[in-house]
Amino acid sequence: MALWSGRFEEGVDEFTQRFGASLPVDKRMYAEDIAGSIAHSAMLAKQGVISAEDAAAIKGGLEAISTEIETGEFPFDINNEDIHMSIESALTQRIGSAGKRLHTGRSRNDQVATDTRLYMKKRAKQLMAANVALREALVQKAQENFNVILPGYTHLQHAQPVLFSHHMLAYTWMFARDFERLQAAYRAADANPLGSAALAGTTYPLDRFATTEALGFSHPISNSLDAVSDRDFLLDLIYACSVSCLHLSRLCEELILWSSAEFGFVTMADSYSTGSSIMPQKKNSDFAELIRGKSGRVVGDLMALMMTLKSLPLAYNKDLQEDKEGAMDAADTLEDCYVCAAGMVAAMTVNADAMMAQAKKGYMAATDVADYLAKKGMPFRQAHEAVGHLVLLCDKRGCGLEDLTLQDFQNESPLFEADIVECLDLPAIVAARTIYGGTGHEAVRVQMTEVKAQLEKDRAYL
Ligand code: ARG
Repeated sequence: MALWSGRFEEGVDEFTQRFGASLPVDKRMYAEDIAGSIAHSAMLAKQGVISAEDAAAIKGGLEAISTEIETGEFPFDINNEDIHMSIESALTQRIGSAGKRLHTGRSRNDQVATDTRLYMKKRAKQLMAANVALREALVQKAQENFNVILPGYTHLQHAQPVLFSHHMLAYTWMFARDFERLQAAYRAADANPLGSAALAGTTYPLDRFATTEALGFSHPISNSLDAVSDRDFLLDLIYACSVSCLHLSRLCEELILWSSAEFGFVTMADSYSTGSSIMPQKKNSDFAELIRGKSGRVVGDLMALMMTLKSLPLAYNKDLQEDKEGAMDAADTLEDCYVCAAGMVAAMTVNADAMMAQAKKGYMAATDVADYLAKKGMPFRQAHEAVGHLVLLCDKRGCGLEDLTLQDFQNESPLFEADIVECLDLPAIVAARTIYGGTGHEAVRVQMTEVKAQLEKDRAYL
């Protein structure tokens, strides 16, 4: 019989028992459930609500249960709806009546909120660690290929040459912002619901500040109704996971494109590729595709919880039991994607020659040629048009800007002089973007120190 069976004459049938159970999902929170119960019972004893002997027996019993769960000996039984009832009934079987005093002044409503917050604080930190590892892999790749020139794109058309390292560092900033979002989710979870009981608080003289301190929360939640109903911290976590998955999908999309025959900019390691069961020659960037695909399910987890919370009246409703599965899935998925992406980036080969060969196409010096004229006094719009004519000329001749003669340039404008060749040199074009945040080598070196300083700060936070 369930722990709440007193007012019932009949139990639920096997199907409804299973349908209503959250044990398969929430048993992952066993350590948090036990920590919460130890803190609660110690506080009950300190406040004189239960005896010190009972609190000691509860602690001993819970620790033994913890060991049993860790060694796989704990007899999980779906007849206990969730991890909270599983542990409480095992405790009572083990230590008798002292176990029955544990739930004094507590409800599963504040208990589940407490456990979930503790659990998600832990997961958020683990995600932050995996986030840092991915950023380290990107920085490493950027460093190893610092001077490699990549065609920069807008509209997926050749635009201006950039440093490959600048491109990799762009992703480190995206993931650094995701780290901040994970920190925000951590902070949102970092508040103690215990003492709110079912919804209204309790008549027992509980010390909410004591359990707050014992469990490492930053403060007790101010409103008991809010404490048992709030799942914003899960939305925040899944949102952070979703945005980071979107970032991963953008990175992976580029790596998939770059590892195609058309680009050949990178070669994926065999260990991050798969073959085909029919086409012997195939080498597919399967894992990058999978990461790109998994962003869909994580955003789905966010939508699912938002819809579950929509219009939900205060305070606890069983709908809220649906909160954990998606949040855990989002965290698990993102963590795996971080690990996979970090390994994939570390193991890939950067093909500098292929990047340079493409960077030479598409008149990527055009902006600099226009700037050349503008710096000599021609209004930029007019310079833009003049260089447009030169590009048209090249198009007709089937050549590049660097193949035009000085005469060709001067036919377009007498401002052109022999030094125009300097504007056609790709490394010089890149290097000239010395502006803060630009792709010039010097600017990227400055940026690299900033990226590393941020990583250092984030590592220290963990
Ligand atoms: N299994 C429930 C959940 O995960 C625990 C809280 C149940 N509270 C209740 N009053 N039924 O949400």
